[in-house]
Amino acid sequence: MDNRRWISWLILNLVVASDKVSAIFVDEPLLYDTFPPDFIWASATSAHQIEGAWNVDGKGPSIWDTYTSQPGIVAEGATGQTACNSYYFYQKDVDALKSLNVSHYRFSISWPRVLPNGIGQVNQPGIDYYKNLIAALKVANIQPMVTLYHWDLPQALEDMGGWLNASVADWFEEYARLCFTQFGDDVKIWVTLNEPWITAWQGPKYGPGTYTYQAGHNLILAHAKAYRLYESTFKASQQGKVGIALNVNWFFPGSDLIADKDAAERALQFMGGWFANPIFGSGDYPSIMKLKIGEKSAQQGFNQSRLQENTAEQKPWQKLLVPGSADFLGINHYTSSLTVNQPSNINDVSYESDQDLYSYYDPSWYGSGSPWLKITPFGLRNLLGWLRDKFNNPEMIITENGCSDTAGNLDDMLRIYYYKHYINNVLKAIKTDGVKVSGYTAWSLMDNFEWRAGYNEKFGLFNVDFSSPELPRTAKASARYIAQIIHDNGFRSDQPCNNYPISK
Ligand code: NOJ
Repeated sequence: MDNRRWISWLILNLVVASDKVSAIFVDEPLLYDTFPPDFIWASATSAHQIEGAWNVDGKGPSIWDTYTSQPGIVAEGATGQTACNSYYFYQKDVDALKSLNVSHYRFSISWPRVLPNGIGQVNQPGIDYYKNLIAALKVANIQPMVTLYHWDLPQALEDMGGWLNASVADWFEEYARLCFTQFGDDVKIWVTLNEPWITAWQGPKYGPGTYTYQAGHNLILAHAKAYRLYESTFKASQQGKVGIALNVNWFFPGSDLIADKDAAERALQFMGGWFANPIFGSGDYPSIMKLKIGEKSAQQGFNQSRLQENTAEQKPWQKLLVPGSADFLGINHYTSSLTVNQPSNINDVSYESDQDLYSYYDPSWYGSGSPWLKITPFGLRNLLGWLRDKFNNPEMIITENGCSDTAGNLDDMLRIYYYKHYINNVLKAIKTDGVKVSGYTAWSLMDNFEWRAGYNEKFGLFNVDFSSPELPRTAKASARYIAQIIHDNGFRSDQPCNNYPISK
């Protein structure tokens, strides 16, 4: 933190610590009520984080296989080469899911497992693996909710420019066609992309401020092409839904100053609006993004905005392909921050600097096993209300929500606290605020490969003993807690863990 940031951080924390923002997280009473009938209850994983078997049965390498083979990139040199070994142990995952009472399992297909080069030759053992998993889920009466892209791009496509190559939308469409054809009779909920914000902004080589927006643009096109393909060719016979999972934090204004309230709104638009506005809103990028990035690009000497504007040649996709290209909005939500206005250095060409703001955490908020994840349950309710208002109350599914620790302990009271209050805020959003949330997904079914954090940050409802070759999955207390909530389809005051004095 530079001096200026440090001083504003200090002043703001002194002001904010006594303020209403921190107070709203304390002793928030629970709402005792039930979720709508047919509410989707799910838990989630992704291919690279659990499958292992990275180079067997014809699977091609993904960018994460390559990335983790470079020393010093991932904590303790961890890789996803074995992970939870779900390629072999998927029945253990299904058994764990069964004990949670979930109606759905959100997992992802590894693109290079079914198409080793990303396009072209199909790998039948890869197809068979997902067919076997889906069959095992069927026996357990659990429906699949399938993500097509959860960050493991085939290395062969990366070698051709990856998400920066304008052809990537066509490659993705080919891959989507294969998946819809092979699995669509059994899969009724599809998620095209998981957190395109991460791919565009933090993808191994797509920073800073020009490539970020180019990758974002291609991601939106890829999503829309897959959606339109399903709509035109598969929907009538398969009767499923296709959405996208966007990660959106909540941003509290750091003060009552208008400039800080605007900064918090700007942060929401840069994170959520960037992908949601083209698909669920006006069909174009948020006007604040167009304004900020346009102005800064001009000052920085670019001859056009680094954000791709609504030019004549792009009109076809903006007008026809992208707007309305989703049946539901998937939301991955974990945390909140406080945000204040802070002009950036104009020489810094980056997505962060384009926003002219600074975000920080209230020191009174509970932490987790991940530095970025503070426990702020009320933020989720605020976010759902914001999305309802901005995007005409779309159907939403919480496609991820969860909490990490570093211990992996079975008596995980922190995670129970997290789930209790976040899920209760979803209930309040539905019952009190009229938000259309049709499902909730707990991340994650089990401790797994947490990307650059390796195996240190554990999000599982089930502990995995990584020191045993059998990788046994053991239920944590939070697994039993969630199973109870799902069983009751909501909150009862006599449920274990819910009947603390504050609720009386
Ligand atoms: C979002 C990602 O989709 C998932 O892969 C990751 O493990 C969780 N957040 C927790 O960081």
